[in-house]
Amino acid sequence: QRFSYHENVVDHYNNPRNVGAFDKNDPNVGTGLVGAPACGDVMKLQIKVDPESGRIVDSCFKTFGCGSAIASSSVATEWIKGKPLEEVVTIKNSDIAKHLSLPPVKLHCSMLAEDAIKAAVKDFKSKTSKQESAKSEAVQVNAQS
Ligand code: FES
Repeated sequence: QRFSYHENVVDHYNNPRNVGAFDKNDPNVGTGLVGAPACGDVMKLQIKVDPESGRIVDSCFKTFGCGSAIASSSVATEWIKGKPLEEVVTIKNSDIAKHLSLPPVKLHCSMLAEDAIKAAVKDFKSKTSKQESAKSEAVQVNAQS
């Protein structure tokens, strides 16, 4: 018997939301690139953050992978838009898998989306902290001269 996918998977697979790419060098952009060793599928998810509010104002993805991975990333980009960084890192792959009714063999596909969100937030934060330390170094240089 063939497994048939839930309509949410089919919908997001046929009409993926937010496919695209942001400039990864934009200081307000965080990029998460993750791969699933089991199948070799790769997901890139990006966030654009408003530095004032710490909220994600936009998100996009590119996934080279199976239909469930594409659907998971599409759902993820929709869910994280407008949310603060602290909140999106609490999104669990099981939430995505439940929304899409993924079968057990496809759980790692939604895991990619959880990992990609976390990686994008981490990338954005590491960029911001680099900028902060560059700023404070500049201040110190100025103070010395
Ligand atoms: Fe590996 Fe879906 S089969 S991400």
